[in-house]
Amino acid sequence: MSAELMERIHSLGPWYHKIALPGGIVTPGNNWEPLWDNIRNATKGLDYQGKSVLDLGSMDGLWAFEAEQRGAAYVVSSDITATCANRLLFCREALGSRVVPFFNVHVERLVEGRSFLGSHDIIQHLGVLYHLPDPFVSLSQCRALLNEGGSLVVETLAIQNIPMSCMVFNGVMPSDHESGYWWRLYKGAHPQWAPTLSCLLEMLLLAGLMPQLETLSLVAQPPSHGINADDPEVTYERVRVALVARAAKREEITTEVIRTVLQAARQG
Ligand SMILES: C[S@@+](CC[C@H](N)C(=O)[O-])C[C@H]1O[C@@H](n2cnc3c(N)ncnc32)[C@H](O)[C@@H]1O
Repeated sequence: MSAELMERIHSLGPWYHKIALPGGIVTPGNNWEPLWDNIRNATKGLDYQGKSVLDLGSMDGLWAFEAEQRGAAYVVSSDITATCANRLLFCREALGSRVVPFFNVHVERLVEGRSFLGSHDIIQHLGVLYHLPDPFVSLSQCRALLNEGGSLVVETLAIQNIPMSCMVFNGVMPSDHESGYWWRLYKGAHPQWAPTLSCLLEMLLLAGLMPQLETLSLVAQPPSHGINADDPEVTYERVRVALVARAAKREEITTEVIRTVLQAARQG
């Protein structure tokens, strides 16, 4: 890599994703392979060929570019901010990609943007749910933008060891020893909610999305993501969960179906 190119890449940072560019260049993102592999494991059976894909909270764009590389015909990459725009646009050019970028797209207000966002066969909702004040609204907004038979890929922080359907509120303050706001389930910018696995499944079902349990993939939350991870009093087992859910018809989601999904998830 030329010194000039290396300087340009570093000037665009800090990078979130490691994105493989032509010439053996990889952007200097986080070494979170277990998280990235967890998402790839959940989506390995999902057919992107010829599909229309909306990637939410794209950041540097790894998952939008991967969707395109897996054969998607049309990919929209969106985020709430444009702070990562220069990295995404740099990679888009380097890859000769046709991903369409939109910024200032809130996942809780997708329906308002339907005229420019369009409706899609696959929506990727990765690493976003736990940032949101109202996670359920974002899932039902995704359902409204999914084509018939379409799929939502969701990845989030979750709690594995509590069978009850509930969400743990993690507060809105960034973790900070000085002010005493350091006792957090998750550190980082605006982590707000961590649903239990049953809660995540029930939210999907309530939003009209049928969890495909055979795609469910879990990995332990990396210790670096939580400042209280080693405390013996902490009883929340934090995992990152990734799965595919299919856009269902309202009448498909009966109480009996919900019971069956929850039982299967507990046993599996
Ligand atoms: C942890 S990063 C995840 C990046 C990528 N999707 C992934 O999974 O690797 C969270 C992203 O969600 C975006 N985000 C946070 N709140 C959002 C909201 N309300 N609507 C849309 N995007 C949001 C952030 O700007 C950030 O790019």
